[in-house]
This record gives sequence, C-alpha cells and structure tokens, in this order.
Amino acid sequence: MFIAVEGIDGSGKSTTIAELEKFLAARGHAVHRTAEPTKLDTGRAIRELLGQKSERPYTRHELALLFAADRLRHLEEEVEPMLAAGKTVLTDRYLFSSLAYQSADLPYEWVRELNRFARLPDVVVYIGVSVDTALARLARFRQGTEIFETRGFLEKLTTAYERVMAEYAGRVTIERLDGEVTMENIAADIEQRLSGIFPKKI
Ligand code: ADP
Ligand code: TYD
Repeated sequence: MFIAVEGIDGSGKSTTIAELEKFLAARGHAVHRTAEPTKLDTGRAIRELLGQKSERPYTRHELALLFAADRLRHLEEEVEPMLAAGKTVLTDRYLFSSLAYQSADLPYEWVRELNRFARLPDVVVYIGVSVDTALARLARFRQGTEIFETRGFLEKLTTAYERVMAEYAGRVTIERLDGEVTMENIAADIEQRLSGIFPKKI
C-alpha cells in the first residue's frame, strides 16, 4: 500500500506521520517512511533553493519541473522497489503537493501534465487545519518562514487542495484528519478515523 500524507505547511504533518507509522506497524504493516522533496540529488537541490534567503534564485516553472523530476526518480528508485518488497510506503508529501502548491501560480493543467507518469497513491491522508492555526505553529516553532508560509499563500493553498481532492475523489481513497486536535489526541484520532481502511494484517 502506498500512502501519501498531505497538508499545508504547519498542519502538523511530521508529528502526525510519526503516529501514523506506529499505528500501521501495530496493524502488521512493514512501513517504509519517506518524503518529498527527497534526499536524492534533485530533492536536495530543491531544499537548497527554497532555503535561500536572498531573492528567489529560480523561476516557478523551474521549481515545478524540479518537483516532478524528483518525484519520478523517487518512484523508480525507492517507492516502487519498496512496494514490490511488500512494504507499506508512507510518504510525507507527494503528487497532491505539486497539484496544490505549483498550481497556485501556474496553470493547473500544465502541472498535472508534468506529473502524468507519477502513479496515484492508494491512500491520501489529508490533514485539515485552519490557516490561523498553521501560522501560529509556524511562528512559534520556526525561525524565519519559507516563501510558502504567508497567510495569503496558505489560504490559496487550502482552496487548491480542496479542488485537487474533489477532482481525485473517485480514484484515490482520501481520508481527512483533523489537524486542530491536541498532540496528545493525535494517536486516538488516527485510531478512530483510519481503523476502517487499515484492517489488522495479523
Ligand atoms: P509540518 O510538518 O506540517 O510543517 P510539524 O509536524 O513540523 O508540521 O508541526 C509544526 C509545529 O507545530 C511543530 O513544532 C509541532 O510541535 C507543532 N504541532 C504539530 N501538531 C500539533 C498539534 N496537533 N497541536 C499543537 N501543536 C502541534
Ligand atoms: P517540506 O520540507 O515537506 O516542508 P514542511 O516540512 O514545511 O512541510 O517541503 C518543502 C516545501 O516544498 C513545502 O513548503 C511544500 C513544498 N512542495 C511543493 O511546493 N511542491 C511539491 O511537490 C512538494 C513535494 C513540496
């Protein structure tokens, strides 16, 4: 099973993924955890570009191409072999991130076309959180914010994610988690909401 976790910056993805991994392991899944942008060459280049404080040293078209390139190599070198070996692959961000983030300022159809060869995940876990909550977390826990972390952009992004999920609703299982719950309640919330689609394997 190939599971992608999605949500805006500050939705609590990393925290939720750690709990999700425990939940899946307890249900008999051998989990391989991964993320995009990846640790491979293109993924590293993307992180470097995003992290630069000075004027953006790239165009948005270039960035969209880099995310798509990183994804295709991620699939070929890591995701597909792990799935073939019987692992449950859990990725922090995937296709829907490009469809939401890059289409915020580029034509949606073009971004989708770039990602034509990226297979769909089996399940998307979307962490829904208000822009206010996301901004408060980002301000509290991070020094400096990345380019994607302004109110206007996060609002646009939330709308874009909703559009993507509506489009793919019939083809991918999409499960929503409430990103507003307290950290102590994340595990219980996962248990309650996801037990139905991840039955015990053993
Ligand atoms: P993301 O990966 O989506 O950017 P993180 O999981 O890194 O988000 O969370 C950002 C910050 O918010 C972290 O420092 C984390 O401790 C805090 N945080 C995450 N989830 C919650 C939550 N449900 N309630 C309160 N704080 C949270
Ligand atoms: P990431 O390191 O996952 O950031 P965070 O931990 O804050 O969620 O991703 C870096 C940024 O890249 C993040 O703001 C989302 C963005 N991104 C895209 O714009 N398109 C994509 O296809 C992916 C995978 C990420």
